[in-house]
Amino acid sequence: MIAIASDHAAASLRTVVRNYLKENNIPFMDMGTDEAPSDYPVMAMAVCAAVEDGTADMGVLLCGTGIGMSMTANKCKGIRAAVCTETYSAKYTRLHNDANVLCMGARVVGEGLAVEILKTFLETGFEGGRHQRRIDMMMSLEHTDD
Ligand code: RB5
Repeated sequence: MIAIASDHAAASLRTVVRNYLKENNIPFMDMGTDEAPSDYPVMAMAVCAAVEDGTADMGVLLCGTGIGMSMTANKCKGIRAAVCTETYSAKYTRLHNDANVLCMGARVVGEGLAVEILKTFLETGFEGGRHQRRIDMMMSLEHTDD
């Protein structure tokens, strides 16, 4: 299950992402928004909560740059969000960082490239091994006083 959301700046890219997932029979939940203007942290927190509690396996967050979404997402428990503007990063953030949230900027990447990035992200698995140790170090920085 993939949880997706966007703010107003990326509503049309969200439609493109939704269509790709539909066409490829990939289950997804669309967490909005169709409101304009909208505040990206609201949607980022909703998607990250779904990933954190296991409702979704991964998240896709879209805004103008992808940056506001990623900054918010990386403050959420259990989240490793990566902004990707090309496929190399999408591949390696899965292989090495086990990223579980993909962020993209609708004002940065074209629709065709966004779909390639999404496809790469979803189809690439985590390599494990030495990378797990590094992820454990990274995740140990999370506050545990919840
Ligand atoms: C909205 O104008 C814009 O700030 C937002 O979509 C995003 O790019 C923030 O990081």
